[in-house]
This record gives sequence, C-alpha cells and structure tokens, in this order.
Amino acid sequence: MHSFKELIAQFSQQFDQQHFPEQPGRLYNAASHILDIGGKRIRPVLCLMGNELFDTLHPDAFQVGNAVELFHNFTLIHDDIMDKAPLRRGKPTVHMVYGDSAAILAGDVMLINVYERLNKIQGRYKQKVISVFNKAAIEVCEGQQLDMDFEGMQPEEVLYNDYVHMIGLKTSVLLAASLQLGAIIGGGSEGNQEHIYAFGKNIGIAFQIQDDYLDAFGDPEKFGKQQGGDILVNKKTFLLLKALELCNPAQHAALKQLMETSPADKVEKVLELFRSCKVDEWAEKEKERFQQKAFEHLDNIAVLSARKKSLMELADYLLNRQQ
Ligand code: IPE
Ligand code: IPE
Ligand code: MG
Ligand code: MG
Ligand code: MG
Repeated sequence: MHSFKELIAQFSQQFDQQHFPEQPGRLYNAASHILDIGGKRIRPVLCLMGNELFDTLHPDAFQVGNAVELFHNFTLIHDDIMDKAPLRRGKPTVHMVYGDSAAILAGDVMLINVYERLNKIQGRYKQKVISVFNKAAIEVCEGQQLDMDFEGMQPEEVLYNDYVHMIGLKTSVLLAASLQLGAIIGGGSEGNQEHIYAFGKNIGIAFQIQDDYLDAFGDPEKFGKQQGGDILVNKKTFLLLKALELCNPAQHAALKQLMETSPADKVEKVLELFRSCKVDEWAEKEKERFQQKAFEHLDNIAVLSARKKSLMELADYLLNRQQ
C-alpha cells in the first residue's frame, strides 16, 4: 500500500514525458502547455488507489491513469474556452496563448490519445474498462452542457438539486469512474465496485463545492484561477443559489441587479453579499454532509480497514484544499 504522495510521484515519473510530436508546432505546443503546467493529478491517483484497495499495483492501472489524466486535461482546455477563463494552474489558459482554434484541436488530439492508451490495456477486463470510461466521458459532456444551460437561466429557475445533479455529471463521475476503473483492474467484486463508485461520486460533489467556494473566496495565488470567474459569467454555483435562498429581499434585489448589469466592481459586491448571507459557512456543512455519505460507502467495502486509510486521507485533503 502506498501513500497519496508516493502514488503521485510514481504516476508522474512515467507520465511526465513528451506526449506529442513536434509539428505542427502550434497544435502540439498548445497540447503540451496544459500538461507542462501540472495539476494535482488526483484522478490517476484515485485509479491507482482503487487498484491497491484490492491487489498490488498492475501496469494497466498506470495506463488507465494516463488515459484519465489526459481526458481530464482535454476537458479543461475546452472548459476554459466555454468559461472564458484567462488563468489555469496560475498560468494563462491554452486558448489565451494559442487561440481558440489551436486550443480546440489540442483538446481533440488529446482525446484521441486517450483511446490509444486505453487500447493498450493488457487484462481481460479491457472491454469493461472502456465501457465504464465511456459512460463517464459522455456524462461529463452532459454535465458541461447543463452548466452552460444554467448560465443563461434565471437563478430561480435552477433548483439546488439541479445544481447537485449537474456537478455530479461534470465533475464527480470522472472521480468515481477513476476509482472504479482501478477496482476493476484490482479484481474488486461488482458490489465493491458499486460502493467505491458511490464513494467517489459523493466525494466529487463535495470536491466541486470546494472548487466553487475557492473560485469566490480562495487565494488566487494558490488556487491558480481568476478570482470570481464564476461570478463574472453568472454561473449558477451553490454560492449564488444558496445566497438567494438565505438573503433578505433587499439583498435579493441587489444580487439580481449585479447579475444583470455586471458593473466593474461586480465580484467585490457579490462577495460581500455572499458573506453577509453566510453561504461560506453553509458550504462547510454541505461538504461534510457529502463526505459522510461517501464514508458510509467506503465502510461497506469488504476489505480490511487499514487498506482504506489512504483514500480517507485523500478525501480529507480534497475537501480542505486551497489549490
Ligand atoms: C479542476 O479539477 C476541474 C474541476 C472539476 C473542478 P482539478 O482541481 O483536479 O484540476 P487540476 O488538474 O488539479 O488542475
Ligand atoms: C469543470 O468545472 C468541470 C470540467 C472541466 C469537466 P469548472 O468550470 O468549475 O472547473 P474550473 O473551475 O474551470 O477548473
Ligand atoms: Mg466550467
Ligand atoms: Mg471552468
Ligand atoms: Mg470552478
């Protein structure tokens, strides 16, 4: 059994290499840009942990981890275009440096690379791995579309449960599938696979709540994204939905006015209103609620509890992270 840190080191050692040819330079430099600026590498580590929960690490878990990390980076390149985001991991986003066309193509090439990796899986579970992966990949696209649809809707048209459903798709399913894919490689039973997936799904929801929280209240130096990026594009994050529910009529009107008119000090003013409605405090409780649900599924996995320790540590880190 390895710790979170050891698994990141092992994964990165084999992942950090040249992934693409040199020409055309604009395309492959755009694709390399996002990989060179790093990231936490949580998803491949989840895949390795899912494997280690049931058996010693298998080379296929690294292959699938590589595919999952490339897929995640593909979604980020396209997401930053959709969200008009200038910063990612503390550096200018791919489309800001190379333009939208190269960024779209770099994402496309990366996605094809994902399938080259999946095609190299050795074990007899290859078809099952590909179908679990494909289901998650399609759901991520569905979640991203819902996120876009919500942007154009009035906040009162988006219910909190719609928000949870949307983040479950755009973010959680990939974390959940990464764990399940590792469990398949490690030989976990169907029942245990279901529990590890449900653990990941609930942790993923809490993870996206923390992401939305950091987008508003995080230290941009550490978080590496533009502060208030979600506020600027009127994202229907839990902060906005909950603030509108908790605030008084005057605050409600002020929030709606800020969303409609987008003045120069919009982020500052919205954050003030968020704080006075105490949505930041509410976020803590909501993360704990999903973490609790996740841990109930982890409890139900039929392996020695010592084997679950690194997953519990990773969950704690993910929900309290500042970056
Ligand atoms: C960012 O994911 C996208 C979300 C689902 C919130 P991460 O926070 O895992 O991004 P990196 O890879 O560490 O930059
Ligand atoms: C992104 O959600 C989810 C995917 C990329 C699929 P966000 O839009 O909140 O992610 P960040 O904040 O840009 O990393
Ligand atoms: Mg987005
Ligand atoms: Mg985004
Ligand atoms: Mg975000």
